[in-house]
Amino acid sequence: MDRRSFIKRTGVASLGIGLNYHKTFSVTKNNISNPLVIATWNVKNATEKAWQILSKKGNSLDAIEQGCMVEESNEQGQSVGIGGLPDRDGNVTLDACIMNHKGDCGSVVYLKNIKHAISIARLVMEKTPHVILAGDGAKKFALSMGFKEENLLTEKSKTDWINWKKKEKYKPIINIENHDTIGMLAIDKNNNISGGCTTSGLAYKMQGRVGDSPIIGSGLYIDNEIGGAVATGLGEEVLKTVGSFLIVELMRQGYSPTEACKIAIQRIVNKPGSNYKNFQVGYIAVNKNGDTGSYAIQKGFSMTKYDKNGNKNISSLFFEKI
Ligand code: GLY
Repeated sequence: MDRRSFIKRTGVASLGIGLNYHKTFSVTKNNISNPLVIATWNVKNATEKAWQILSKKGNSLDAIEQGCMVEESNEQGQSVGIGGLPDRDGNVTLDACIMNHKGDCGSVVYLKNIKHAISIARLVMEKTPHVILAGDGAKKFALSMGFKEENLLTEKSKTDWINWKKKEKYKPIINIENHDTIGMLAIDKNNNISGGCTTSGLAYKMQGRVGDSPIIGSGLYIDNEIGGAVATGLGEEVLKTVGSFLIVELMRQGYSPTEACKIAIQRIVNKPGSNYKNFQVGYIAVNKNGDTGSYAIQKGFSMTKYDKNGNKNISSLFFEKI
């Protein structure tokens, strides 16, 4: 590009013609006195727990950890914590991450036999100079922090795995209609945003496979000046598009949380050769004004929101062209 055409192009850009550079995020509610928490899927017990902390002027990081722990302890849920479906070799391995309003973060990948992966992620953030601990090292660290090992493979998940092994069809489709990674975002009384996500990952995954959930920027991102976003669904697709960071950057440009989530979903479905009809990805987001939104590829995704109006499960918008 020569100098003349560069000046022409940047001149157009500076006027905002045809581009979205004219949009920027502005804080219109400097002091939202009403905290809130949102989470992926229908997890009212988890948002209830987070709300108990937020409504008593607790901080958003505690709310996130405690809220996620509810689902990690729920043996019925087969995609998070205890009861999670194993990899194809029968190992339940957990991934989680957490991020606070200062931009600090911690995560664990391939954690075995410790159900509260979110708490270990928080301790990585707070007690080590690192961001990610993996596998045996993550477990050793958890044990050193006083956590106890337990068997995370429940009888139900073991039976499902044994039945799966009879055919061993490796078809990595994440739940389309009920439950998957739990992602949570909260704003507290001081208007500080934190987020977390926790998962046992893709059912019957290859041993060693890690998805988006413990990867800051993909599974979760927080910028306390702008807002936060978190993902659920097929992690490979979220990783390839760095979804949560993208959503926060779109909100910085002035897009609403719903618009930002929608554009991030379009990034996935519009990829050349995308087989998006065969999998689900869903995003939820909140901005600094307390506006919230969600968007998914397929019908069936929902967001749970607890604010001053109560604890509600809200169906998500989804990509229409299916
Ligand atoms: N989103 C969870 C995973 O893909 O592991």
